[in-house]
Amino acid sequence: MTVKHPTIALTGATGFLGSHLMAALLEKGHRVIVLGRSSRDATLSQRIAGLLKWFDKENLTDRLEMADIDLSKARLGLGLSKYNKLCQEVEQIIHCASDTSFTEGKREQVFESNILGLKNILAFASDARVQFFHYISTAFACGQDEPICLEQLPQANDFLNVYEESKAQAEKEIAQFCDRQSLAYTIIRPTIVYGDSRTGRSLKFNALYYPLRSLMAIRDIYINDLQNNGGKRSKAHGIYLDEEGYLFLPLKIVLPKSGGLNLIPVNYFVEATLRIIKNAHPGGIYHLSNTAPVKMETVISFSKQFMKMKGVEMAYAISPQNNHRNPAEELFDRFVKAYLPYMHDNRQFDRTNTDAATSHLQPPAFTNAVFNRCMDYAVAVEWGDKLKQYGALT
Ligand SMILES: NC(=O)c1ccc[n+]([C@@H]2O[C@H](COP(=O)([O-])OP(=O)(O)OC[C@H]3O[C@@H](n4cnc5c(N)ncnc54)[C@H](OP(=O)(O)O)[C@@H]3O)[C@@H](O)[C@H]2O)c1
Repeated sequence: MTVKHPTIALTGATGFLGSHLMAALLEKGHRVIVLGRSSRDATLSQRIAGLLKWFDKENLTDRLEMADIDLSKARLGLGLSKYNKLCQEVEQIIHCASDTSFTEGKREQVFESNILGLKNILAFASDARVQFFHYISTAFACGQDEPICLEQLPQANDFLNVYEESKAQAEKEIAQFCDRQSLAYTIIRPTIVYGDSRTGRSLKFNALYYPLRSLMAIRDIYINDLQNNGGKRSKAHGIYLDEEGYLFLPLKIVLPKSGGLNLIPVNYFVEATLRIIKNAHPGGIYHLSNTAPVKMETVISFSKQFMKMKGVEMAYAISPQNNHRNPAEELFDRFVKAYLPYMHDNRQFDRTNTDAATSHLQPPAFTNAVFNRCMDYAVAVEWGDKLKQYGALT
C-alpha cells in the first residue's frame, strides 16, 4: 500500500537546517513547495539546484516546486492567483526561516524577519487551512534561568540575545494565533546543531565551529610568527613549537562556571523532525536536545589533539583582578564573546513529548571520532568558503 505524504510548504530551505529538511522530505516522498527568495548573486531556483547538488539529490526535482516570496509582505508578496493556488495545494507548513543574528544592533531586522514575517506566514497557514503549522524554534527560547526547561510555552523573560527573545515571542504568537484560528501547530526546539555525525558534512560553520575556527586561526598566527618571522612575539609570551610539532600556547578559556554545550548533529535533527511531523499532536512542543551535554573539557581535549596544540585550558570563576589576559586570550575572548554563554549551559531539557513522538530516538554521542570527522570536513571546505559554489550560504 502506498502512503500518501502531505504536500509541505517549507521556508528557510536555503539555510542550514531547512536545506537538510528539504532533501529529507523529498527523499521520503513528500511534495515540497519551497517558499524562499533570491540572493544577491543567484535566483531561488539556482540556489536550490546548487543545494540539491551538494546533497547529491538532483534526481528528486519532480516533487519539488518553488515560489519566490517576500515574507514581509501580505500574501507573501505573491499575486492573487498564485497565492490562491498555493492555498489549495499546501497541506502542512514547516516554517524554518529565521534571522539567526545574535547582535543587539540588528534588533529591528531580527524582529522584522522573526515576528513580522511570522504574521504573514501564519496568515497563509490560515488561508490555506493547513492540517499543521510546524515551527522550527530553539531550545533556548525557554530563557536562561530555567534549570529544567519544560516542553511548554516560554515563561521566562531573560534571554541571552535578541535572537532568543524573538524566538520566544514567536512561539507565543503562534500559539495564540493558531488557538484563535483552530489551527494545529507544533513547535520543534533544537539545541545547537552541528554537521552530520556520520559523514562530518555541514553547510554552515557557526555555533560549535566558530570558537574552534577562532582557536585555529590564533594557532596559525603564532605558527606563522615562529616559522616565518623569527618568533619574537611568540617567545615573549612563552609560546613555542615542541619537538613533536605541537604548539604550546598558554590560553585559558574563562567561564563563570563549569558546564557544557548541548549539541545535536543535523542528521538527528532531520530524523527526529520527520518523526515528529508524522506523529504530531496539536500544540505539541518538542525538545531536540542531548540529555548529556558535552563538557567543555572534552571539546578542548579533542581540539588540542586535532590542532596539535598544548597549553589550552578551562578556568572557572576567576576574579577580574586575577585574570590577566595575554594577547592570544584577548583575541580569543573577542572572537567568541557571543558564544561564551552557551559553553557553560547546565539546563536540562525535558523530552517527554519528543520521546513519545520519536520512539525515544536519541542523538548519537559526540565522540572524538565524530569531532574529527566534522573538523576534517570543515577544514577541507575552508569553513564553507569552498561551498559557495552551491549558492546556499549568503
Ligand atoms: N543551526 C542551529 O544550530 C539552530 C539551533 C536551534 C534552532 N535553529 C533554528 O532553525 C532554523 C534554521 O536555522 P539555520 O541554522 O538553518 O539558519 P540559517 O542557515 O541562517 O538559515 C536561515 C534561513 O532563513 C531564511 N530567512 C531569514 N530571514 C528571512 C526573511 N526575512 N525572509 C525570508 N527568508 C528568510 C534564510 O534565507 P536566505 O538564505 O535567503 O537568507 C535561510 O533560508 C531557525 O529557525 C533557527 O532559529 C537553528
